[in-house]
Amino acid sequence: MRALTFSRFGGPEVLEVLELPEREPGPGQVRIRVAAATVNPTDIGFRSGRQSAQLAGLEPPYIPGMDLAGVVDAVGPGSDWQPGDRVMAIVIPRRPEGGAMAESVVVPAASVARVPEGTSLDAAATLPMNGLTVRLALDLLALKPGETLAVTGAAGAVGGYAVELGVADGLRVIAVAAPTDEPLLKKLGAEAVVARGDSAAQGIRKLVPAGVDGLVDAALIGAPILPAIRDGGGLAAVRAFEGETERGITIHQVRVAEYAQNQAALDRLGQLVAQGKLTLRVAETFPVERAADAHKRLEAGGVRGRLVIVF
Ligand SMILES: NC(=O)c1ccc[n+]([C@@H]2O[C@H](COP(=O)([O-])OP(=O)(O)OC[C@H]3O[C@@H](n4cnc5c(N)ncnc54)[C@H](OP(=O)(O)O)[C@@H]3O)[C@@H](O)[C@H]2O)c1
Repeated sequence: MRALTFSRFGGPEVLEVLELPEREPGPGQVRIRVAAATVNPTDIGFRSGRQSAQLAGLEPPYIPGMDLAGVVDAVGPGSDWQPGDRVMAIVIPRRPEGGAMAESVVVPAASVARVPEGTSLDAAATLPMNGLTVRLALDLLALKPGETLAVTGAAGAVGGYAVELGVADGLRVIAVAAPTDEPLLKKLGAEAVVARGDSAAQGIRKLVPAGVDGLVDAALIGAPILPAIRDGGGLAAVRAFEGETERGITIHQVRVAEYAQNQAALDRLGQLVAQGKLTLRVAETFPVERAADAHKRLEAGGVRGRLVIVF
């Protein structure tokens, strides 16, 4: 089977497609014939060596990729899936079998959910990792319906799901993004859009003078966004939070691996897609041989929707 790999850290040029042996699913596992897998910012960190500490003890070639969609083609003992099921899955690539960017991937059955009716496999691949990240972030913030949530990086993959899942949870959502993204964010359900930049926290305070109850920091702004949050509120950080908190604000560190086998949460995300409450956004698809172009495009910034590698 073909897999996207790298055997040394570096720029997009280190990516190469290799023919690797197919694996058999063990107990509680399923094997998926992959149709689509997404390129996420973490793949760039993985490939460049920024996350090399997490690969200690693993041998190259490494396979990046954290989510995929395809069709089940083999099941191990104790798994309820059937060959032919259309599924999406989250994959943790820091394991000997590697990540999602391969024609054939074996994952725990609990990392898999059915693709919603009427959803393409390309679109479904964009949901598991970032959808579960946001679900975990909101669960950690534990806001009540009617409370306020601010989202930085709101036009991105994590940010867009944070806006829509926040609205689905009954929250009032304020998006922080470029003014050109305002129509998109209004469509996703944001009550207001605050311009990104140095005065974003002040802009949020103008709308919510006491400060928002919680904030998902998908743009990695960190400490400078704390003034937007009320005393005793919460910030969900998707990368290590540097600096000190203030005024009793809790910093919740989000690690999606904690939800990698939360099948109920992944199923529920699929149901929200089917109900039209969650929007899947594909920016562009690339054959695996052109994965380096997809990495370059993501690194250049400004992508709206996810870049998807198709097999
Ligand atoms: N901890 C975890 O488990 C976990 C899981 C998933 C993702 N993540 C992390 O979450 C982050 C977001 O991922 P993503 O996939 O959503 O990335 P993305 O799709 O690239 O979105 C990031 C968004 O932030 C915008 N942005 C950049 N600087 C900003 C600023 N100062 N103010 C407001 N918006 C700003 C970007 O706009 P431009 O494109 O115009 O620059 C982009 O729309 C990444 O760092 C990723 O690694 C962590």
